[in-house]
Amino acid sequence: MGFHLPEQVVTNQDLTAIMDTSDEWIQARSGIQERRWVTEDEAASDLAIPASKKAMNMAGVAPEDIDLVIVATLSADYFFPGVSSQLQDKLGLRTVAAFDIKAACSAFVYGLSIADQYIRSGTCHTVLVVGTEAQTKFINKTTEGRDVAVLFGDGAGAAVLQANNNESGILSTHLHCEGKDLKSLWMKGPGSSSPDQINAVTNEQAKTYEPWMNGREVFKNAVARFPEVIQEALDHNNLSLEDVSLIIPHQANLRIMQSVAKRMGVEMDKLYSNIQKYGNTTAASIPIAMCEALEEGRIKDGDYIILAAFGAGYTWASAAIRW
Ligand code: ACO
Repeated sequence: MGFHLPEQVVTNQDLTAIMDTSDEWIQARSGIQERRWVTEDEAASDLAIPASKKAMNMAGVAPEDIDLVIVATLSADYFFPGVSSQLQDKLGLRTVAAFDIKAACSAFVYGLSIADQYIRSGTCHTVLVVGTEAQTKFINKTTEGRDVAVLFGDGAGAAVLQANNNESGILSTHLHCEGKDLKSLWMKGPGSSSPDQINAVTNEQAKTYEPWMNGREVFKNAVARFPEVIQEALDHNNLSLEDVSLIIPHQANLRIMQSVAKRMGVEMDKLYSNIQKYGNTTAASIPIAMCEALEEGRIKDGDYIILAAFGAGYTWASAAIRW
């Protein structure tokens, strides 16, 4: 695994200079102290490339070993094609299959699941899965957009998955989607729902080009779906919470994680958390958290860990892994 963050640190105090907010409000609602923002000339691929190189080095795989590239992102450099095409080129890979998936905060776990199926079927041996976001390029960094702006950050994390014959690896994945509330967390444009996309960017319609969120609805759904999908992973593998050494949830919001821990009857230290430093990095949050948990020695060989995600769509997902 490997991760890469933009250098620009934006503290809560920094935000008070550009919008009407406070460190106290942000910390009380989300636990976030600071986050990273890309600069004007950085994009999602600029974070994905170094994260991928680190993961490939750590795994000891060469560019020609990669059989498939899956990029989880909602903030690709371009509307199309995906970041995956840039990775194929910039990492010097063979002309293997490469595609992006847009499942918001659940996209990295969705990507792991796809990689797992390709490996289990024997179609692929070595798969690169990357979560990358330069999403702060889309947020409204004024008081008008503050409810969303303070929560999000940029970053990338990558994993190399490889077929093996031992007991370690992905044990199961469970993916879900329920589209009825998709407008609780969405960004409308650019999209084909616009009657005239080419002329859509008038002052009024420009508002559809920034993310919008009904925070309370998202909170309510997140605290229900996280425990549900974690339990699904446990049940499927005949595991109990005691068997699991660490749960790595998507870093949505510290209050969401505290509520999930309470509902599941576990201490907060069972749930990995680094949102204080990075905010919510959407598809990148789980691989970045996995990298840091590894560096801190919180994941050891033979451990059972659970990844759990919830996000726009709504989508939610879990993966049970034996390290
Ligand atoms: N700074 C200061 N004040 C703010 C800010 C801000 N950044 N944003 C909103 N406010 C104001 C609002 O304007 C409102 O003011 P008003 O009462 O005068 O109208 C007030 O704060 C709302 O405050 P609360 O009611 O306390 O807000 P709430 O407790 O609902 O918290 C929050 C909002 C943090 C968004 C909450 O609903 C939440 O945690 N939702 C979950 C959303 C989330 O974490 N999303 C992450 C992305 S989705 C994902 O990854 C799954």
